[in-house]
Amino acid sequence: MEPAFFYIAILLSVLSISSGPDKALCRDDIKSTRSLDLLIKDYTFKSYGKSYFRTAELQVVKLPGNLSDIRVDIARYRCGSLKRYGARIREFHLGVGVTVQPCVERVLMIRQVLGFNWSSMFYSNYDLSGYQLVSPVLGLMAYNAGKDPFQVGVHAGSENPIMVNFSSIARIDQKLGGIVPLCASFGGNRQLAIMGSAGQSLCRVPGHGHFGLVAELPSVQMRRRVSRWKVVVGSSIGALLGLFLLSLLMMAMLVKAKKKSRREEMERRAYEEEALQVSMVGHVRAPMAAGTRTMPVIERRYSAPYR
Ligand SMILES: *[C@@H]1O[C@H](CO)[C@@H](O)[C@H](O)[C@H]1NC(C)=O
Ligand SMILES: *[C@@H]1O[C@H](CO)[C@@H](O)[C@H](O)[C@H]1NC(C)=O
Ligand SMILES: *[C@@H]1O[C@H](CO)[C@@H](O)[C@H](O)[C@H]1NC(C)=O
Repeated sequence: MEPAFFYIAILLSVLSISSGPDKALCRDDIKSTRSLDLLIKDYTFKSYGKSYFRTAELQVVKLPGNLSDIRVDIARYRCGSLKRYGARIREFHLGVGVTVQPCVERVLMIRQVLGFNWSSMFYSNYDLSGYQLVSPVLGLMAYNAGKDPFQVGVHAGSENPIMVNFSSIARIDQKLGGIVPLCASFGGNRQLAIMGSAGQSLCRVPGHGHFGLVAELPSVQMRRRVSRWKVVVGSSIGALLGLFLLSLLMMAMLVKAKKKSRREEMERRAYEEEALQVSMVGHVRAPMAAGTRTMPVIERRYSAPYR
């Protein structure tokens, strides 16, 4: 084996090792929001699932050190009373008529606030397409509160959606310079769904899931502003050019009209002068012409004897 190949092979293997994932952050071990949800759920049920606490009473869940950036509150409800009375779970306000499906009897609601560190996970998991997160991500998940803690769905009617109040966890007003952020939902298909603007930091959402406030990236805003500027400048230049061409055209028409009228005037004058001259000349010449016309006759008459 050639020594050169050997060294190249070693070099390549060293390069491939050093360029591989070497970050030891726990964030990178949790690849998706789904696995984070499962981790939080497992931890919650391990620590609080068996202990008794009153229905509709909020409990703070203490997570281990490597998840301390995440704040979790839980509350247990009977599905029937949830539907009849609604509930307020920190930032989430569930109106009357909210349904849990499937529901055996009770449901355990988990509300998560992912700190900015954990929220940044959504950048790698979702196609944010020109948006940036401007709030921590809030999650509302629901599980069967019985022996088998399977995930259940929370659904609000469109006339009475779940309200999410971001104002206590996101101070965004001064940072965005007056721009109203948009409500975003992080769906299961790695797609961001924009659900309208978050006036007063309030979002209306149809059910459980992960939500955040987003704003257009400055570069996107800039591009849009530049293109708007381009349109304004372009259209005004176009308008000016059009006006200039129009004035040129009008001037040309004016000059032409003037020339025409002058020519007509000159022609008219020339015609008049000619007519006058002819009539004058005719008047004066008339006898002369008669004379010249008679002359040859006289000449011929005089010349006749020479023939
Ligand atoms: C967090 O720390 C605990 C021990 O405190 C460990 O068992 C667990 O695997 C860690 N989780 C992650 C995601 O790193
Ligand atoms: C967030 O991440 C930064 C850098 O990765 C780290 O210094 C900081 O301690 C983290 N904050 C929390 C609350 O984990
Ligand atoms: C949202 O929360 C803020 C602060 O927690 C509160 O002042 C405000 O009244 C809430 N808005 C609604 C509509 O509940």
